[in-house]
Amino acid sequence: MSIKSVVKMGNKELGKPSLPITNFADPKIKTIIQDMYDTMIAEGGVGIAAPQIGYNVRILMFGFDASENHPNELSIPLTILINPTYEVLSDEMHEDWEGCLSVPGMRGMVPRYTKLKYSGFDPKGNLITQECSDFHARVFQHEYDHLDGILYPQRIRDMSTFGFNDAMSEQLAVVAE
Ligand code: NI
Repeated sequence: MSIKSVVKMGNKELGKPSLPITNFADPKIKTIIQDMYDTMIAEGGVGIAAPQIGYNVRILMFGFDASENHPNELSIPLTILINPTYEVLSDEMHEDWEGCLSVPGMRGMVPRYTKLKYSGFDPKGNLITQECSDFHARVFQHEYDHLDGILYPQRIRDMSTFGFNDAMSEQLAVVAE
């Protein structure tokens, strides 16, 4: 059990592209993934990317249990992706709320592709390929952006939607992290 402190927006490290994993046998990978998981659960995030806890490598994870409080959303199984890639399957984009563990207490409306296919390697080195849409696709794109050094505020089109949760309490939403 190792909960790390989350690197916050403004730290230059979050803006750096992360490096691919080249040696899947490196025991450090297991530690990074465990730290990511423990931190994501402790912080109540829907997802997390390795650079958010100080590891500059291309690993992300996400998962969402809709049964608890969000009957209108579809659950996303816990997914760990090393060296992910993706292909957009439709030009259609949709705006919805996002938040981020690196931008605590805030949210904003972010346009994302609604349908895509992602690939990546699981912790054992097996290739995973998954088509997804809507919230699942949004969460993937949010976490993937972290690996390229991009935070969601950089994607907001209408900055009047960006603000503090406690100042926008009338707008309830499930947010990607
Ligand atoms: Ni984030």
